[in-house]
Amino acid sequence: MTDPRQRIAADLERARRRSEALTTDLLDTDELTAQHSPIMSPLVWDLAHVGNQEELWLVRDAGGREPVRHDIDDLYDAFKHPRKDRPALPLLDPAQSLAYTREVRRKALEVLEAAPLEGHRLTADGFVFGMIVQHEQQHVETMLATHQLRTGPPVLDAPPAPRAAPGHSRPRDVLVPGGSFSMGTSVEPWALDNERPAHRVHVPAFRIDTVPVANRDYWAFLADGGYADPRWWAPAGWEQRVRAGWEAPMDWFREGDGWWRRRFGRPEPVPPDEPVQHVSWYEADAYARWAGARLPTEAEWEKAARWDPATGRSRRYPWGDEDPTPQRANLGGAHLGPAEVGALPAGASPLGVQQLIGDVWEWLSSDFRGYPGFEAYPYEEYSKVFFGGGYRMLRGGSWATDPAACRATFRNWDLPIRRQIFTGFRLARDV
Ligand code: AVJ
Ligand code: FE
Repeated sequence: MTDPRQRIAADLERARRRSEALTTDLLDTDELTAQHSPIMSPLVWDLAHVGNQEELWLVRDAGGREPVRHDIDDLYDAFKHPRKDRPALPLLDPAQSLAYTREVRRKALEVLEAAPLEGHRLTADGFVFGMIVQHEQQHVETMLATHQLRTGPPVLDAPPAPRAAPGHSRPRDVLVPGGSFSMGTSVEPWALDNERPAHRVHVPAFRIDTVPVANRDYWAFLADGGYADPRWWAPAGWEQRVRAGWEAPMDWFREGDGWWRRRFGRPEPVPPDEPVQHVSWYEADAYARWAGARLPTEAEWEKAARWDPATGRSRRYPWGDEDPTPQRANLGGAHLGPAEVGALPAGASPLGVQQLIGDVWEWLSSDFRGYPGFEAYPYEEYSKVFFGGGYRMLRGGSWATDPAACRATFRNWDLPIRRQIFTGFRLARDV
């Protein structure tokens, strides 16, 4: 067993490597301070915001230390300034942001050295350090979404994601028998407030696809005129499609008689066997209706991902309780894109459902609410203020999500119009 402090320090370091690799390692001041899209922050805001949250929670709260900077909390408070207003703020410049985050990190590591990892709730099992690791990794994913929206010469590159074995086959879907299972967790040390507590949920029998919807499936919907037929769309989704002029997933365009897309500034033919990504909830919902199916509920997704029919218990991950490996799940941004459907059979659940973890966040039909017994911890603005706000649930993490910020209980959410994040979906059916 490695020392828990060393593990936490390594998780912090891995997050910071990714933050710097997407910002100050790569882009000049103009690019870092520019707003690449009104729905995203300037990259330099994300960088200093990550440092500011680390200062608030690790240096000041857990460490009881003096502020590194007492004058910038307001600038980097996400609730004080909407994303579109952030470029006009008197932000730290890239060099100052880098120096600030590094100074905060130096102090945070001192706090880690001295922190009791048992007893006090905030630091027990390193919880508050885990919260900050996950926070930075979530912003890394946000920064990758900003990179995808950025125009200009390409700056990101990675080896291709795993492909499915030639001639492999699998059933389209599997039956998940009806009955109750344990949803959420009361024991996972770094689980955030909205994943708690564990509670029993009855889920009627349903069928769920073994893999996410692939690009080749999605373009059959396009070819069938799916974007021209309001019959398939929720009324608000149709309105949004018309208003925004959506004709296909974000960044798809026609080239001759085929579909192409732009990925991190590079045009390429849409790969038929990758999970579709950059679709909104409304598009996923419309596709599902067209296909004679529906999106899974959040409880259905989690039961498919965790329930072990042999023991009746809920696993940490579809494959068992062990941590993710590259063979089980495509996570951490190593490939800058999803693996082909069927490429990761080692990550299957006991019922044979694949790629639940990694590749693409999966849209679900459920709204964001607290579980029975929910308690906001350690602050209401992480989850509670979003409950009932019209958000839809996303599960499983994407290719961009770090393993530290991804569990089978992890809950993510966004508005049903959003498609800049790395989202896809899979189908469910009633029995
Ligand atoms: C849980 C991913 C929706 O990015 O808005 C980051 C995470 N909370 N900073 C987000 C978060 C505060 C959050 N999501
Ligand atoms: Fe944040």
